[in-house]
Amino acid sequence: MPVDLQNPLSFKNATGDADTMLQNLQANILKGHVREHLHILLLQFGQGTEGTAEARAFLTGLAPLVKSAKTHLQEVKAFKENGPNDASDVPYVGVGLTFAGYGRLELADRAPSDEAFKRGMQDDATRQKLGDPEVAQWEAGFQEAIHAVVLVGGAEAGTVTTKLQEVEGLLTGSIRVLGREEGRGMHNANHDGIEHFGYVDGRSQPLFLTEDLEEERRRTDGISVWNPAQPLERVLVADPAAPDPATDFGSYFVLRKLEQNVRAFRQAEEALADALKLENDDRERAGAMLVGRFKDGTPLTLQATPGAHGPVMNNFTYDSDKDAHKCPYQAHIRKTNPRGSGGFGQPPEAERRHLMARRGQTYGERTEGDLPETGVGLLFMAFNSDLNKQFEFTQHTWANNPGFPQPEKQDDPDPGLDQVIGQGDRPPATWPKVWGEEEGQEVPAMAQAVTMKGGEYFFMPSLPFLRGL
Ligand code: HEM
Repeated sequence: MPVDLQNPLSFKNATGDADTMLQNLQANILKGHVREHLHILLLQFGQGTEGTAEARAFLTGLAPLVKSAKTHLQEVKAFKENGPNDASDVPYVGVGLTFAGYGRLELADRAPSDEAFKRGMQDDATRQKLGDPEVAQWEAGFQEAIHAVVLVGGAEAGTVTTKLQEVEGLLTGSIRVLGREEGRGMHNANHDGIEHFGYVDGRSQPLFLTEDLEEERRRTDGISVWNPAQPLERVLVADPAAPDPATDFGSYFVLRKLEQNVRAFRQAEEALADALKLENDDRERAGAMLVGRFKDGTPLTLQATPGAHGPVMNNFTYDSDKDAHKCPYQAHIRKTNPRGSGGFGQPPEAERRHLMARRGQTYGERTEGDLPETGVGLLFMAFNSDLNKQFEFTQHTWANNPGFPQPEKQDDPDPGLDQVIGQGDRPPATWPKVWGEEEGQEVPAMAQAVTMKGGEYFFMPSLPFLRGL
């Protein structure tokens, strides 16, 4: 039976083509792999027949190290049933190719066909669409023609470094390492993953496995109001260069290095609290209005104070906050997932199609109490089946668009840009002075505290493709 792409999948009950698909798919796509310690290599293949041969040899050599989705899911199952075991700490290796990378492999005619993927992130049309800085302002490695990316991630620094060395041992003379990135998980006192501005991150995700949905239903605040289920087709793409596109799938992978100016963001939180004359504990609401959640993950649309973090809630929509008097329209999580309230003529089901599987990780060292202005940030990573409809739509049509979401009342002012990731001119925005009450106040725009330092689009191909090169 063909793989059912229209629904989530039960990996425990997968048989036939669905089971083969899981054996042939890279890990980290359908479900995030642990990547507390993460290394990223940006690679360029050499020119000519020798370059092609070495690139192919590297990828076939890498194939046995690349973890399959099936192996990863079995490891997760064994861990849940029996606790830590020998396999619990086997790092993940993943690999992706750019369109130019397929060219160097002499496979441009069989490369995945997504238009954005073919353009790449350095392309002027892409940069203008996303509002990204000139390529000359990006970090050096990202300015070059990138052909491949390798990710090595896991729970322990030691095993991840050993695995990275194994990968590096496969690199031959014509393959250049253009850049290296290192990610490192950050956590708050509740052990939830956070990003550099201090907010819980990675909580809200589309879920593609029925086992994950069941877990969400039983162990969190549930899925009755906001159901994170998404069909496999939202993340999987038949691998056009693989032996059997009926069982061999991949996914488009977005990588963006986003530097975070922690001091500027902290100043923006304080400035907003001052402008609205928020006092005492209510001052924390300023930051929560920029993000849409309090630092501990409590959704601002649900309550005026933090505290709902055991577990961090995700079973909500903006239905009881249509006028955005609790969570402003311009808050990061309302801009990037309006949960059916965005307007723009899109019914809720259509709106959900823009969501993507986020797999980001923080980078950069800092000491407690530090407010770094450079050198730290987020390695934003996400899997998509359609870059134009998912990542690009979210950044361009939602985050960077001052008119989105469409305010419930026609006379209400435009929301302005996404307060965290919006790129472009920042008009002033209007904020609720008191949680849940109508009176709003216009405040001059905060400075942009997130700067794009480089990135690229990749396709993470199937394992049979890699083996057969
Ligand atoms: C959620 C921070 C970049 C899309 C979140 C959350 C935080 C956060 C704190 C709340 C946790 C959660 O609900 O999972 C950041 C920071 C960024 C960044 C600091 C940059 C440095 C991006 C980018 C995109 C994006 C580039 C896409 C273009 C999303 C989405 C959600 C989210 C879709 C989930 C919203 C929901 O479902 O409610 N982000 N983010 N983020 N972010 Fe970001």
